Amino acid sequence: MTDHTTPLVEMNNISISFGGIHAVENASIDLFPGEVVALLGHNGAGKSTLIKILSGAYRRDSGDIRINGDPADIRNPRDAKGFGIETIYQTLAVADNVDAAANLYLGRELQTRWGTLDDAAMEAKTREVMGRLNPNFKRFKEPVKALSGGQRQSVAIARAILFNARILIMDEPTAALGPQETAQVGELIKQLKREGIGIFLISHDIHDVFDLADRVFVMKNGLVVGSARTEDVTKDEVLGMIILGKCPPGAIPGPGAMRDAR
Ligand SMILES: Nc1ncnc2c1ncn2[C@@H]1O[C@H](COP(=O)(O)OP(=O)(O)O)[C@@H](O)[C@H]1O
Ligand SMILES: [Mg+2]
Repeated sequence: MTDHTTPLVEMNNISISFGGIHAVENASIDLFPGEVVALLGHNGAGKSTLIKILSGAYRRDSGDIRINGDPADIRNPRDAKGFGIETIYQTLAVADNVDAAANLYLGRELQTRWGTLDDAAMEAKTREVMGRLNPNFKRFKEPVKALSGGQRQSVAIARAILFNARILIMDEPTAALGPQETAQVGELIKQLKREGIGIFLISHDIHDVFDLADRVFVMKNGLVVGSARTEDVTKDEVLGMIILGKCPPGAIPGPGAMRDAR
């Protein structure tokens, strides 16, 4: 059951600087179960830095994180994984020379009671999870390097699901993909939503993510300009947030919202 009253993730008043430069300042974002939240903004806005604090790659200077309402002291990627947070990187961390099942179980292979690899069990579970995520996928016997970008991404996500990910971070997931593969990733995201997984979708391009997102947060110069439900704002209005830092009436302004925007 998903509980829609307690956020899966709350990041409150997060700040971090590198050598005195504020990469992220006083940023607050949240995410509910089964929700897709897009984090938008120009290159250098601070999106990846903010989300790397959630994935444990960076330590925040100040601010706090809550997972399912409880304070979460995330100090490294292992802590993040312990909270069910998984990141799908643009450069997919898949093992190219082995098949999907071997990728899903890499480093945690199932064994038979005789101590040999239980290939049958691993393949059956792989077919089940991949079947849910990507019903058209049939290339179970091929090394992952033979797969398309979209298919490789479904392997990476299936692996995260098998690790009990509840919170998925996808940083520029479609940057290296063609239109058909981008559509495939869209289908994947819809299926993950149905499973109650919360997704942060990071992109510098509104067109890649607007239709998939339930809400958007816009960042500019390390600050959150504002947030909005996608049904309450137009794409043009969100572009205005990204480019000008101007918050439309349907959005909730953040510390980076431009004052007297006219
Ligand atoms: N490890 C780092 N050391 C120094 N500066 C960094 C580091 N990581 C990010 N930054 C700076 O923080 C700012 C935000 O970068 P980033 O979060 O990558 O932006 P975005 O993902 O929105 O394109 C940029 O000015 C970038 O140069
Ligand atoms: Mg980035």
